[in-house]
Amino acid sequence: MWKNCSCNFYIFCLTVLVAVVWAENKGNPADEIVDFVNKNRTATKLPKLYNSPGLGCMALQFLLECTQNCTSNNTLACQPAEIDITEVYAPNCGVELPTVDTISGQLVGCYWSHLNPDQAFSTVLVPTKKSLSVLHSKEHHEVGVGYVRGHHGPFLWCILFSSGNATSSTFVLEGGTGIKQRRGCFSGGDVPCNVGTSLLPAHNTLLSSICCLLVQLVLMFG
Ligand SMILES: *[C@@H]1O[C@H](CO)[C@@H](O)[C@H](O)[C@H]1NC(C)=O
Ligand SMILES: *[C@@H]1O[C@H](CO)[C@@H](O)[C@H](O)[C@H]1NC(C)=O
Ligand SMILES: *[C@@H]1O[C@H](CO)[C@@H](O)[C@H](O)[C@H]1NC(C)=O
Ligand SMILES: *[C@@H]1O[C@H](CO)[C@@H](O)[C@H](O)[C@H]1NC(C)=O
Repeated sequence: MWKNCSCNFYIFCLTVLVAVVWAENKGNPADEIVDFVNKNRTATKLPKLYNSPGLGCMALQFLLECTQNCTSNNTLACQPAEIDITEVYAPNCGVELPTVDTISGQLVGCYWSHLNPDQAFSTVLVPTKKSLSVLHSKEHHEVGVGYVRGHHGPFLWCILFSSGNATSSTFVLEGGTGIKQRRGCFSGGDVPCNVGTSLLPAHNTLLSSICCLLVQLVLMFG
């Protein structure tokens, strides 16, 4: 198909491709997971949780310790030391130590291929009754989600819950934004998401191919 493309047409196709990729990447999958968490809770009359960027960044830090630990059956075999919360995650995120509050629950998981946030939520993060009861705990007031891809490897997700105040006085990021993360995504921060892969998801390529084909038909017969 590409062989038949004129030069202008090539440029047009590339523009479409860039536009599609840009549109795809604008959303933050970690924030989408928070939406699923809150929708699922409010459906059972539980209160919404505060989307804390400091906690989200710490969830990402958790995953950065686990990128080598996804088993071939999509189980995340990873137990970072609890002390890392204050000794590693908070300092690496620039979360002010005295504002670190209690972690009241966590849900983690991994998958060896790309999943949409809704699939990640139901298949990876909340696949069982046990995980659903963690999601529905009355102790939680805040939530933070991290998402990253291991180097050419699996995709990892982490939801951290906290029983903290559900205000911006907990998990405070120094200077408002904390320390810039070089890899991965986290919720609540309103920062661009770099999941650690430059590969285009297959459906983007397919979509732009279909688009190019349609335009070509219009040019030929229009
Ligand atoms: C997945 O594999 C690990 C070891 O690699 C094993 O311990 C675990 O039981 C397996 N889980 C399932 C659900 O098969
Ligand atoms: C990740 O897996 C390695 C090898 O199995 C293990 O030694 C390490 O403790 C695991 N990391 C964590 C944070 O659990
Ligand atoms: C909440 O999530 C669980 C696990 O994915 C799912 O089985 C259940 O249907 C969801 N509930 C609602 C109201 O969406
Ligand atoms: C949390 O809220 C309670 C009641 O509103 C308040 O007394 C307490 O100081 C707050 N804690 C923090 C750490 O802000």
